[in-house]
Amino acid sequence: MLNLLAISGSLRAASTNSALVAALALNAPEGCRVTVYDGLGRLPIFNPDDEGERTPRDASDLIDAVTGADGIIVSCPEYAHGVPGGLKNALDWLVSRDAAVAKPAMLAHASPRSLYARAALAEIMRTMSFALYDGEPEIALLGKKPPEVASILAEPANVLAMRDALAAFADFIRSR
Ligand SMILES: Cc1cc2nc3c(=O)[nH]c(=O)nc-3n(C[C@H](O)[C@H](O)[C@H](O)COP(=O)(O)O)c2cc1C
Repeated sequence: MLNLLAISGSLRAASTNSALVAALALNAPEGCRVTVYDGLGRLPIFNPDDEGERTPRDASDLIDAVTGADGIIVSCPEYAHGVPGGLKNALDWLVSRDAAVAKPAMLAHASPRSLYARAALAEIMRTMSFALYDGEPEIALLGKKPPEVASILAEPANVLAMRDALAAFADFIRSR
């Protein structure tokens, strides 16, 4: 069984990215379990002085979750052409650890825009030595309200697309 950790970069209650990662968890193919990380909003702002023995509990929990995962999935919005601060903060807690090194990672997209954030996130994660998978599933949910988001994510073609994307990511992980 592959354990995948999915992180949404949005803290919005009606987040389309959070809905997408929840749907990925729901539609995991056989042999894969997707757990959604829900601690982003609790993480203190990264400070290198607070590493080592002083590492805050919530940051240790994130580091442990990434270390224990066979792969991670990230779906995030774009804010002012950048990666949202909360997500970048979470990644910063992982920079000087082994957690990210060679860890398979897949980006997923809930918006057909966000091209700057996609490129920046890929650059950041490659720099951190994540093994970035080439496929990036996209389901266009930009600007949709929760009921419509739910019905789009339940469309058979989208369920299949999510399952196929996860299965392909799982193959990538197993082939390493
Ligand atoms: C403060 C702010 C800045 C944004 N800046 C951009 C941007 O530069 N480019 C873009 O494509 N979308 C931008 N957006 C739109 C969000 O990226 C988009 O609505 C995203 O899908 C929201 O994700 P969520 O539903 O998971 O919260 C911005 C949204 C906010 C709230």
